Amino acid sequence: MYKIAVIPGDGTGPEVTREATKILSAVSKKCGFTCETITYDFGGERYLRTGEILPDSAMEELRGMDALYMGAIGHPDVRPGILERGIILNLRFSLDQYINLRPIKLSPGVESPLKGKGPEHIDFVVVRENTEGIYAGAGGFLKRGTPDEIAIQESINTRKGVERCIRYAFEYCRRRNKAKKLTLCGKTNALGYAFDLWDRVFHEVGQEYPDIEKDYGHVDAICMWMVKNPEGFDVIVTDNMFGDIITDLGATIQGGLGIAAGGNINPEGTSMFEPISGSAPKYTGKNVINPLAAIMAGQMMLEHLGEVEAATLVERAVMEVVRKHMKSMDAGKMGASTTEVGDLVVKYICSME
Ligand code: IPM
Ligand code: MN
Repeated sequence: MYKIAVIPGDGTGPEVTREATKILSAVSKKCGFTCETITYDFGGERYLRTGEILPDSAMEELRGMDALYMGAIGHPDVRPGILERGIILNLRFSLDQYINLRPIKLSPGVESPLKGKGPEHIDFVVVRENTEGIYAGAGGFLKRGTPDEIAIQESINTRKGVERCIRYAFEYCRRRNKAKKLTLCGKTNALGYAFDLWDRVFHEVGQEYPDIEKDYGHVDAICMWMVKNPEGFDVIVTDNMFGDIITDLGATIQGGLGIAAGGNINPEGTSMFEPISGSAPKYTGKNVINPLAAIMAGQMMLEHLGEVEAATLVERAVMEVVRKHMKSMDAGKMGASTTEVGDLVVKYICSME
């Protein structure tokens, strides 16, 4: 029995979370385990009603869970950053979820915007550092609002933080056992401090992994290669900011944000799973949003919890639904409603061997 905290959040978050938890209960019933879900109403509505973002007492409760599941955070009536920093980044940092794991995989039947590229070309994983870099919140204003204003936003890269991320990536690459190639995505030609550290640690730690091929690319070149030659990647490791940017590009080449999921992982603590997409306010309440990213986030959670059989069932069911039933991965163009897509996934799970 697992205790899962569920944070449906804002916009379309509750709709996709509804489908993801539906799949979770179907698959857990089938595989013979139970997930007790505890729902938390953090997000824009609660903030606007009470002024509360994420109380410390809740943080302590969340720490005691087996995993966290999040729909989406971001509300059109709340200034950008308040909820994102106060909830998503706060959780990632406070629970020390130092890895953001984002698989980029094109499923059969899904069209990539990349001409001539199919599932055999697009299958790699980005390991994004998730607690440091320019996201760490180091910086400040001087003389704010004056003509002499200075805004500083510093990138924090600790030896410990860089090393644990790179080590995780090498281990992950070995376990994945595909091309056994790890690419460091950096910017050593311009950012001579941060990526000097990353580069040194990459090669030092890399000596412990003689079976893994080491590769390096500047982030701008990586963007180009992700479009021209995605088949050249197996696992990419990178810092927080670059990881944020290249995984939106990655989501796009795998068929869009409708299907892209990620895990915020603390290998020694409590991890959190979420779709890469945002709260999509314009589709809210219409039952047209694609729930597959959320469902696949649930799939990653099951795998993380060690429920490998359940995770495999969900993945297979999703692939069937994609291949046989969906016209598009985009909201409103799926040829089915949010609920129908969820129901189909449940149907395949129940009928599978
Ligand atoms: C993501 C999101 C977040 C990030 C935002 C909402 C703070 O874009 O998960 O990729 O930048 O990490
Ligand atoms: Mn992002």
